[in-house]
Amino acid sequence: METSTYARWFRGSTPYISAHRNKTFVVLVPGEAFEHVNLSNMVHDLALLHVLGVRLILVHGGRPQIEQALPESFYHGHRRVTDELAMSTITAVNGQLRTRLEALFSTGLPNSPLHKVDIPVIAGNFITAQPMGILDGVDHLFTGSVRRVEIQRIKNSLDGGALIIQSPVGYSPSGQVFNLPAEEVAAEIAIALQADKLIFFDEVAHLSDDQGQRISTVTPASLEQALATTENANATRLEYLQQAVRRGVTKSHLVPFTDDGALLAELFTAEGIGTQVVEQQHKGIRTATREDVAGIVEVIRPLEESGALVRRERDRLEQEIDNFLVAELDGIVVGCCAVYPYGAQAELACVGVHENYQAGNGVGARLLAAAEETARNNNVNTLFVLTTQTRDWFLEQGFTDASPDQLPEQRQMLYNWQRNSAVMIKEL
Ligand SMILES: CC(C)(COP(=O)(O)OP(=O)(O)OC[C@H]1O[C@@H](n2cnc3c(N)ncnc32)[C@H](O)[C@@H]1OP(=O)(O)O)[C@@H](O)C(=O)NCCC(=O)NCCS
Repeated sequence: METSTYARWFRGSTPYISAHRNKTFVVLVPGEAFEHVNLSNMVHDLALLHVLGVRLILVHGGRPQIEQALPESFYHGHRRVTDELAMSTITAVNGQLRTRLEALFSTGLPNSPLHKVDIPVIAGNFITAQPMGILDGVDHLFTGSVRRVEIQRIKNSLDGGALIIQSPVGYSPSGQVFNLPAEEVAAEIAIALQADKLIFFDEVAHLSDDQGQRISTVTPASLEQALATTENANATRLEYLQQAVRRGVTKSHLVPFTDDGALLAELFTAEGIGTQVVEQQHKGIRTATREDVAGIVEVIRPLEESGALVRRERDRLEQEIDNFLVAELDGIVVGCCAVYPYGAQAELACVGVHENYQAGNGVGARLLAAAEETARNNNVNTLFVLTTQTRDWFLEQGFTDASPDQLPEQRQMLYNWQRNSAVMIKEL
């Protein structure tokens, strides 16, 4: 990557870094991915997420490896019937795959900036399973389904800083081991934890429209419709992703494991690379909370550095957070503004939109509309703003020029003559 491209990419990714911190992601690494040259790159990207403070649970699959070890398997529908001998082979295959992942996370990630990072990996009895039982007269023996996820046990391990690796198996209270579909295990863990993301790596990893173009975002309802009307190679996996969002997971994603860096492209860029399933796109403006402080800082720091905004210390931001509104897109803060009432007048301040989202998305205009509404709700009839570089934009938004002596007295005293900002007002 060229230096300037790299710098642009990195700047664009910074809002996502704070947005993902302390979030819980459940990631499916299917058996097919173990056969691909990208496996170690995937592990590297997952390690990076761990280092950035993402709480990770990886569920591995092993279908192709099990098929190879058990070529004579009997299937009922799309589920393998697992007898005792098959179960012991499956346990061995799962053990090998899990060990391979554990080893990759333990190699010290040579030749990378993460080479000294030590990542604790944990596996355990996190899933209680039950037998599928007899279906259409066929006893599925050791083929099972998820009965319960040990939520607290998982949370304790994540709180301790570990990354969890879960094999597609579960144990019954009587001590039997059951073979489970990895997709179900991942989805059920994500649902039980009400995770922020459920991510499935896959070979062809996006949904396409009629013209063959990638659909980057889809709602569960339109995905359900698409699956009912068109053939799709990853229909089963997409169905799990759709169900997970319906049952409370914030977002789910299908990401290709064949592209190096796909996970990072999906998680750290606005356009993504795969397909995400989300109930609604958060384009709204809302009042800020303390959790937004880091996101607001990401937006305003560069604008402060360029002189467009007056510098605000973080402490002050925290104290005044109730005055702030934030614009959110895809769950990240992309813009903000603050409203400070002075009786019947109010100051509009700290209006800023992250540079990647300026001009074209109307974020600034929507923030202003919400600020005006907030002011009106506080019986304010005049909004004023002090600006050095954005006069034209405020003119377009219905503000007119005014002079510092039209400011409320208290605010006049704080007027910085050296900065010589233009004073603009708007009657509401
Ligand atoms: C000013 C700002 C908040 C507008 O947000 P935005 O989301 O880009 O605004 P909108 O999408 O609603 O409007 C964009 C339009 O305003 C124009 N615009 C943006 N900044 C402008 C400026 N400083 N002067 C004049 N016009 C400007 C854009 O060119 C665009 O025009 P177009 O629609 O013809 O392409 C944003 O550009 C920003 O954060 N600027 C830097 C911080 C700043 O100056 N804040 C004000 C401090 S008082």
